[in-house]
Amino acid sequence: MSRRRRRKLQDAPVEIHIESLTHEGRGLAHVDGKTVFVDGALPGETVMARYVNCRRNYDELTTTELVSAPAPERVTPPCPHYERCGGCSLQHLAPEAQIEHKQSVLAELFGRIGHLERPEMAAPIRSRDLGYRTKARLGVRYVRARDEVLVGFRERHSNFLTAIDRCPVLIEAVGERIEALKALFRSLEAYDSIPQVEVAAGDDAVALVVRHLKPLSQTDTEALEAFGEQTGLQIWLQPKGPDTVHRLWPVSDEAPRLHYSGDGGAVTYAFHPLDFTQVNREVNAAMLAQALDWLDLRDTDTVLDLFCGLGNFTLPLARRAGHVTGVEGVQMMVDRGYENARANGLENVTFCAADLHSALDARAGWIKGYDKVLLDPPRSGAELMCREMHRFNPGVIVYVSCNPATLARDAGILAEQGYRLVRAGVMDMFPHTGHVESMALFRRADREE
Ligand SMILES: C[S@@+](CC[C@H](N)C(=O)[O-])C[C@H]1O[C@@H](n2cnc3c(N)ncnc32)[C@H](O)[C@@H]1O
Repeated sequence: MSRRRRRKLQDAPVEIHIESLTHEGRGLAHVDGKTVFVDGALPGETVMARYVNCRRNYDELTTTELVSAPAPERVTPPCPHYERCGGCSLQHLAPEAQIEHKQSVLAELFGRIGHLERPEMAAPIRSRDLGYRTKARLGVRYVRARDEVLVGFRERHSNFLTAIDRCPVLIEAVGERIEALKALFRSLEAYDSIPQVEVAAGDDAVALVVRHLKPLSQTDTEALEAFGEQTGLQIWLQPKGPDTVHRLWPVSDEAPRLHYSGDGGAVTYAFHPLDFTQVNREVNAAMLAQALDWLDLRDTDTVLDLFCGLGNFTLPLARRAGHVTGVEGVQMMVDRGYENARANGLENVTFCAADLHSALDARAGWIKGYDKVLLDPPRSGAELMCREMHRFNPGVIVYVSCNPATLARDAGILAEQGYRLVRAGVMDMFPHTGHVESMALFRRADREE
């Protein structure tokens, strides 16, 4: 790092007037002509802010004090640890304003990246903004100076864990037990060799997957079991890689699974705590309903569900369509898809494993025409699948996205292939964070009624 950059990091806070809000919700401004991004500041506000990162083309700062009147949409963050904890980034913005911002980010990116006209915007899908998070990886660290074990997310702009006593965005069964978890881990003989705990909640049970770097003593195992018994939380252990995860408490002969329901309770999904599942159950239910509505299925339709995971969309689709093919990169999720289809009595489903970011093997049986396609890719998007859409040749496409920039890029590719972007809207899967989850509907222009 240059001396100039280092000096800036040590400087006293500077006064900055915020011009607008970035896509992830940081205040954008200019200092001596250079772009700066300021955490915790809103458009129209003047703040004192401290440098936390200096780069060639932009600097990053964090607000230390509000100097002007607060912006009308500023609220008191619901979490007492918000200023330090890196888990959330938008708690100072009213939840309605957060979702409005996400909706305008989506509309703007379709124009800027996809070169498309603004589509009809659907009403956002919302949920309660606290206690919604059913999945999380919490760091665990013994801090010698405090003789304390911390449990939580990293501090903003730092590798240290934030000292928190509760987390209001996590499901309450865990979010309100952070202090109890800290005390539990500190009481163990292995207090300094537990690096993380994964939280995974089903409708029926909540699991804590405790990673431990050394074998646990009998005393520690009993302490963990007692914690499970006391709190009702399931305790799972992970001594090494993900395939070593096993349930410690409760002892049971049942398959190691949690469960959630979908499609108005008509479908039950079984999952392993480390499987990908959608984080916000209320939003997931509304998202499934909207995707089914937009696809407008007939019982003769053939549907392709790309990036299908354990069958979250596949199974409700199969309840309405003639046949559904789910394709997914991870073989274990393909197995889970079949397990879930069988358990729900659905036989009109095929699951296949394929890397959907690499050149397709044209001999694969699933590469053929379909009436409708649903895509739900990771953040990198589905560029290749959109370029190859002519092979599937659907009349209708529903694209579910966790990154509006790659959705906008892929929407542009679909437009080149004759698909019109009909409608889009955001879903508040992660309230209080900068994540923008969205859904878009495309129709083949030459097959519209
Ligand atoms: C956002 S998740 C959606 C899963 C599922 N649709 C759901 O709603 O639970 C994306 C899925 O894409 C899968 N995936 C990631 N990269 C992939 C690739 N290159 N090829 C195929 N699938 C991939 C992941 O394993 C994950 O299941």
